[in-house]
Amino acid sequence: MIHVEPTGAVLGATIHGADLSKVVSDDDLGVILHALGQHGVLRFPEQDLGPGDVSRFSSLFGEIQGNPIGPLDTTREFPEVGILSNLKENGQYIGSPDAGQDWHTDMTYRDVAGFVNVLYGVRIPVRDGKPLGGTEFSDMHMVHDALPADVKVRLENAAATHDFTKLWDNMRAKGSPRPALTDEQRRRRPPVSHPVLLTHPITGRKVLYCNPGFTDHIDGMKREESDALLAYLFEFQLQERFRYTHHWTEKDLLIWDNLGTIHRAIADYRPDEIRLIRRCQVMATKIFDPAFAHLARAA
Ligand SMILES: [Fe+2]
Repeated sequence: MIHVEPTGAVLGATIHGADLSKVVSDDDLGVILHALGQHGVLRFPEQDLGPGDVSRFSSLFGEIQGNPIGPLDTTREFPEVGILSNLKENGQYIGSPDAGQDWHTDMTYRDVAGFVNVLYGVRIPVRDGKPLGGTEFSDMHMVHDALPADVKVRLENAAATHDFTKLWDNMRAKGSPRPALTDEQRRRRPPVSHPVLLTHPITGRKVLYCNPGFTDHIDGMKREESDALLAYLFEFQLQERFRYTHHWTEKDLLIWDNLGTIHRAIADYRPDEIRLIRRCQVMATKIFDPAFAHLARAA
């Protein structure tokens, strides 16, 4: 039986007693989903996993999003498992070298929202005994509860438009080596709209569902009014009191809830300090189905 040990911080728990290279029972999946709702970020230490294991475990939570801006690279085994790395082979990066370095939530730019991110730490840079390249989170359950009552009223039935190109273009403007998006890539990712306050399918509580990376404007509001309200929400949601940093250890399998948290990758390592993470982004194709979410409530 697996055992959940909370970090004691605003987010995060360690799951002991799980071997994710094996089949996960429905009972254990229920415990994991329940813990995900409560703690937002779950660490499974000491896992020995190949890309196929990462893919199989990720699929338990919903459909895996492959390459967000193009077709899957079917020349690779398990193309649905992405690579985040600054490692180069033959002069080329083997994966995304600077993914996620601005605060954001994965996949809010999709019509089907993102649910879970699954990351497996293959190589983690360490300097002077300290791990680098951490992942920092902010707790959107807490943020919602802390919002002033008048702001909650303003947001009650509001929806916001999320745009994939916002984060991509901002990263380029800051010097990222990523290429400009082509017209075809932009067409694949038209802006989409989501409620600003979402009811979380596991906890049944409200969360603030907007993020500086992708949220472009609040629907039906004048641009200036929308910009001012979003600037306020972005500042509010990043206060230290809501934040938690995961410091990586190799062989950590980390999952987090994209509906209830926002995050960023901390770029504190040099090009010669190699980081290699395997990642699956899982969409919310199952979690809004009450029969599936019931697994968590039964735990
Ligand atoms: Fe991300």
